[in-house]
Amino acid sequence: MDIHTIALGVHIVSIFLAIGGILWADHTAYHWFTSKKEVLDHRTLRWLHGIVGTALGLLIGSGIILFWPAHNYLLSQPLFLLKMLFVVLLVINSIAIDRLMHRAANFPYRLLPRAQKIPLFISGGVSAFCWVATIVVALIMF
Ligand code: HEM
Repeated sequence: MDIHTIALGVHIVSIFLAIGGILWADHTAYHWFTSKKEVLDHRTLRWLHGIVGTALGLLIGSGIILFWPAHNYLLSQPLFLLKMLFVVLLVINSIAIDRLMHRAANFPYRLLPRAQKIPLFISGGVSAFCWVATIVVALIMF
């Protein structure tokens, strides 16, 4: 098996890992938003964030291996550049989530002031949109 095939396998498995982690994290967050749970377990949050972060790291690592042999062609493709923009937004958003998620471990959702709720929704929206957009753009391209 060559390096390209292995990297493509890692790329695809990591997408499923990320989707699984995101759905699980959203399900956990839903319990907090609906006050079924007053606060969320710190370790669970760290673990879920770690799964999605690892999947993103593996996607970037395997993506670079896939990208390198065709870099001249890919860098001239607007869709590929758009995909990279979404990946950069996902990395920035992941750093933001790392800071924001502690609110769910420390405060009940209903007691959070509005100003602290808004960034949570922006971050959730950016995450959902960028993951879907990255996958859709990649599937259109390749
Ligand atoms: C959130 C991150 C990413 C997601 C969700 C993602 C998703 C995908 C998907 C769905 C495919 C199509 C697989 C197929 O049908 O064959 C693909 C292929 C590809 N991706 Fe990514 N990708 C991500 C990050 C990256 C990065 C950072 C790079 C480059 C630096 C990259 C480079 C590539 C290349 C070159 C291919 C074509 C592989 C081939 O068919 O030979 N990806 N990606």
